[in-house]
Amino acid sequence: MDKKRFPRNKIQWIWDNIEGLRGLLIVAMLGTVLYNAMQLTVPYFSQKIVDRFLTGDAAATAYESDKHGFYSLVNAMIGITLLRALIVYLDCMAYEHVSQRALYRIRNHLFAKIEHQDMHFYNEYRTGDLMTRLTGDLDAVRHNIAWVIRMIIECFALFTAVSIYFFSMNVKMALCILALAPVIFIIVFTFRRKVKPMHQLLREKHSQMNTAAQENISGNRVVKAFSREDYEIEKFDKINRDYRDTNKKTRLVWVKFFPFVETCANLLPVVLLWVGSTLLMKDEMTMGEFVAFSGLMWAIANPMRLLGNILNEFQRFSAAADKIMEIYYSEPAIVDPEDAIDHPERFEGKVEFQNVSFRYEDADLPVLSGISFVAEPGETVAIMGETGCGKTSLIQLIPRFYEPSSGKVLVDGMDVSKLKLKLLRTSIGMATQDVLLYSDTIDGNIAYGDTNITKENVIKVARVSAADEFISKMPEGYDTIVGERGVGLSGGQKQRISLARALAVRPSILILDDTTSAVDMETEKLIQEHLSELDFPCTKIIIAQRISTTKKADKILILQDGRISESGTHEELIKKNGYYAELVRLQTGEEVIA
Ligand code: GTP
Ligand code: MG
Repeated sequence: MDKKRFPRNKIQWIWDNIEGLRGLLIVAMLGTVLYNAMQLTVPYFSQKIVDRFLTGDAAATAYESDKHGFYSLVNAMIGITLLRALIVYLDCMAYEHVSQRALYRIRNHLFAKIEHQDMHFYNEYRTGDLMTRLTGDLDAVRHNIAWVIRMIIECFALFTAVSIYFFSMNVKMALCILALAPVIFIIVFTFRRKVKPMHQLLREKHSQMNTAAQENISGNRVVKAFSREDYEIEKFDKINRDYRDTNKKTRLVWVKFFPFVETCANLLPVVLLWVGSTLLMKDEMTMGEFVAFSGLMWAIANPMRLLGNILNEFQRFSAAADKIMEIYYSEPAIVDPEDAIDHPERFEGKVEFQNVSFRYEDADLPVLSGISFVAEPGETVAIMGETGCGKTSLIQLIPRFYEPSSGKVLVDGMDVSKLKLKLLRTSIGMATQDVLLYSDTIDGNIAYGDTNITKENVIKVARVSAADEFISKMPEGYDTIVGERGVGLSGGQKQRISLARALAVRPSILILDDTTSAVDMETEKLIQEHLSELDFPCTKIIIAQRISTTKKADKILILQDGRISESGTHEELIKKNGYYAELVRLQTGEEVIA
């Protein structure tokens, strides 16, 4: 995504996210300036002690005649050192507090953003990549607030304060020492240019590694089934090695620059000795000043040495922040329209498709073309058709998971794109083709859509779904915890829990996508009977492969290559002697006569 599309730059973005803590951050920054400025006091007092008590003509008698003055200076040095330690401690705590709060806030915001995204987003982003954004990338942001900002201020404050102090002591000496500064700036800017793309690459490799691990862990059953552990381990090793090498290469960029910086830093004492001794000899500098210069030389050299590290960390933050802000400022395409219709009453459940065509954003050809049908309230409409013909795509248009490319989908005569999304979706009970259960109790899974549902009603919907029997036989019944994605349950059991979950919300529209495909014929028949006797009005749209499931439907739609090729009741379709009649022949072995 183009960076320019972000409404705020990275600094503004952090600023936005520390609302309520901005004062504290500013105080912390001032604290950093203060404790660094305080570093100068020790050499200042040393200079005073050297000049008054250790060198000069009066040095021999100075201590005896002014003991009080001597100890005042020493005590001041100790006092200031202790005070400085306290300020550093409080300062670090403040940065930590601000960064952790910002991290918490951004993470919650990011999670909410991800939650509200539409299907297209989930098709585009890999889980491992999103996880990287929520973990590693966010930590880089926290580290930036807690450490990088502090270090930049520390280096800058130290460098500026020492420069001012140097100039106030001896302009010539100060000029000679600071003459090296421009060289450092050139080195640093060149380094920044080189290391920036490396951090972007590194971030990508990190995400690839997380994705590989995540996909392997969640898909481990397939790995086991094909005995591909060694292959996967080798594949992961390659990705891991790639990540390690990129990491090493990124670190090595600084190694190329380091000798130059180190040479500059090491030249500082040489310049001091050389220029200093000349000035001392010429009496243009006191010994105390020389000691102060010498004692503060680290305050110029250290920021130089730290620059590489700071820039590295800043670029890491920059690459991570780009990735986070991409999600942070993303907006789902499918949202409530401004004047979204809120419909206080229960929907009657009429579903209508008016000449609907649909194409996935990333596909060239449409999957659905000219689909028109009506499911009257309370009716059962069955959708059949060979695999890949567009059945799942069709039903996904009802809860507005996708928008039709043309035509309209209506519920109770209202265009679904005009309805409040939450209202629309809570009125629909859906059992998806790929059943996903949470690692929670069976009860928790069934009650997912309506947490206020009573235990009695959970059992009731489980009965309708022919699930009560097997659930009751489980060691802890409805309190049995099912593993991630429903591990521990059979395919048919999962499907029945998924059906119970869809029914638990007492939907106006029930959509079942191949929900009984893994259930035996006998049980399926039972479920069909139960579904026709629900104690609440409900329109049912059922995708199925078996004639036994669809036979009693008020309407059967046959989908072929994204078009409705046949529609009517079981009897009508048999008369047509088309695809459906052929299906009946195949499944029942009976010769049907048109
Ligand atoms: P079965 O569930 O196997 O019976 O098929 P189906 O009739 O439910 O087909 P579905 O609606 O899932 O898919 C119809 C066509 O759309 C297929 O050719 C898929 O390859 C394609 N398709 C499904 N999902 C996506 C998607 O997210 N993106 C793109 N580009 N194509 C998709
Ligand atoms: Mg499907």
